[in-house]
Amino acid sequence: MEVLEKSSSSDDDAAGNLAGNIIKQSFITLSEPCANELQSIIVDYVTQCTNAGIFKTQGQLTGVTFEKLWVNYQGPGEWNPPHIHSGDFSLVGYCQVPPELKDEWRHPNQQGQDPVGGKIQWNYGQWAPHNVSMFGPISPEEGDIYVFPAWLLHYVFPFNADVVRVSFSTNCYLNYAGGPDRS
Ligand SMILES: [Fe+2]
Repeated sequence: MEVLEKSSSSDDDAAGNLAGNIIKQSFITLSEPCANELQSIIVDYVTQCTNAGIFKTQGQLTGVTFEKLWVNYQGPGEWNPPHIHSGDFSLVGYCQVPPELKDEWRHPNQQGQDPVGGKIQWNYGQWAPHNVSMFGPISPEEGDIYVFPAWLLHYVFPFNADVVRVSFSTNCYLNYAGGPDRS
């Protein structure tokens, strides 16, 4: 809700800094409680990855520094080409997903073998033979937040419905005890 309120009145245009082929992309600054909520999501994610042995921290995690958060207003025919982010981890969240997007599969151009209208997908392993893998394509739902390594290639396909989907994204840097202060 805060993302929608702040981005609707933001005149801090982010389009020149981002990969999106999207007209309306704005930077916003979150309130402290909202930023703290995002921080707890990242810390929980990193903790789970560390406990599972798929991520190795460089020491005792003391906090998370976020880049300025940006908001995408994706309309019909707009998309995000394959790209990566900066930082250690990134996230994308969906704060407005019109129900019309559930019917995207009905559109005449979605009747082939790989209907991906409006979906998001992550890929990795392309550089290693026989190792390509992917997560997606998936149709994000309102309230979803996806956290992923910043280096992970991802992209968003255009949709046909005459609606606007609003998502937000940011990058974060992990801070360690004794490490550089990036706050
Ligand atoms: Fe992205």
